[in-house]
Amino acid sequence: MELKNDRFLRALARQPVDRTPVWMMRQAGRYLPEYRRVRGEAGSFMDLCRDTARACEVTLQPLERYPLDAAILFSDILTIPDAMGLGLYFETGEGPKFRKPVRSAEAVQALGLPDAERDLDYVMNAVGAIRQELNGRVPLIGFSGSPWTLATYMVEGASSKDFRHVKTMLYDDPDTMHKLLDLLARAVTDYLNAQIRAGAQAVQIFDTWGGALSTPAYLEFSLRYMKQIVAGLIREQEGRRVPVILFTKNGGQWLEHIAEAGSDAIGLDWSTELSDARARVGDRVALQGNLDPNVLFARPAAIKAEVARILASYGTGPGHVFNLGHGISQFTDPERVTAFMDALHELSPAYHRR
Ligand code: CP3
Repeated sequence: MELKNDRFLRALARQPVDRTPVWMMRQAGRYLPEYRRVRGEAGSFMDLCRDTARACEVTLQPLERYPLDAAILFSDILTIPDAMGLGLYFETGEGPKFRKPVRSAEAVQALGLPDAERDLDYVMNAVGAIRQELNGRVPLIGFSGSPWTLATYMVEGASSKDFRHVKTMLYDDPDTMHKLLDLLARAVTDYLNAQIRAGAQAVQIFDTWGGALSTPAYLEFSLRYMKQIVAGLIREQEGRRVPVILFTKNGGQWLEHIAEAGSDAIGLDWSTELSDARARVGDRVALQGNLDPNVLFARPAAIKAEVARILASYGTGPGHVFNLGHGISQFTDPERVTAFMDALHELSPAYHRR
């Protein structure tokens, strides 16, 4: 199946494009009334993830509204711990929870490696259905959480502000922490490879909580396992490279290290200036980011000014994928996203003229 729009893949390969490609983290979500409607019909959030037709429908919703250059699989990073038997559920307004958090060496010992094709078949079914429905319109991004980020939810049993339990394990019993992270790295590798075999054309690893660690702890407990995953991924499929994007939120101070981990691109949140990041990583990797999602609460003129600033900060030439610095807020007015897209498509071609 021929890809009609390959701007996103070309930018990740640092090849010339006509304008800066764009997608948004959490582009399919509650800020869209059409998502809320389908979500309501499906039942729970996990019911929606397991419903092939509806997961496919919501993945495509943002592409119907906006000129986006990639689709991202509708699913969640917590499907892996759920497949490990932790009992994932979502309490309205409170985020994810696990019925059986992993708090001890014995609990870690008892965990097994999920079989991605069997235990997470609903994810692979969604990938296949989305590819078919996209029919080559734009590439499909698959994703997973990083081992460290998954471990924070598994050990805390929910979202956390201080990471009390997982950091206790890290410092009190690093061997157990490493056992858990190694198991997760193998699970994530299998899971991403299954998504690639099912049709994902690029993958992103979300290390949402890597930035909560000290520098030595980040290198030892987060980056090391992302490196292990990247080394085990299928990198070519359908005659094209399958690029890997590493996104560590608040990881700007470790860019030189992240650039050595073997990925094709680094995702940046808004706290790191693109010009600075580009100077530090050179031509080793492409860069993705980094509009503060809260800018989308401002007037269209203010949104345009921020888009202009970010484009100028990266500068001319290839290697930039435009994105938000983190997921879009559920309180965003969809019209403001239109203003964002309009500004980007008006301003970005000037950065790609040769
Ligand atoms: O980007 C996309 O459009 C693809 C879908 C996607 C979701 N979650 C759907 C979702 C992706 C890529 C994720 C990743 C994810 N999930 C991360 C890493 C990215 C990040 O935001 O840092 C994390 C940490 C999670 C875990 C998770 N899932 C949380 C903390 C929550 C609750 C969030 C909230 O705002 O309540 C979820 C649920 C979730 N995942 C929703 C969506 C659209 C909202 C749930 C709903 O519709 O009821």
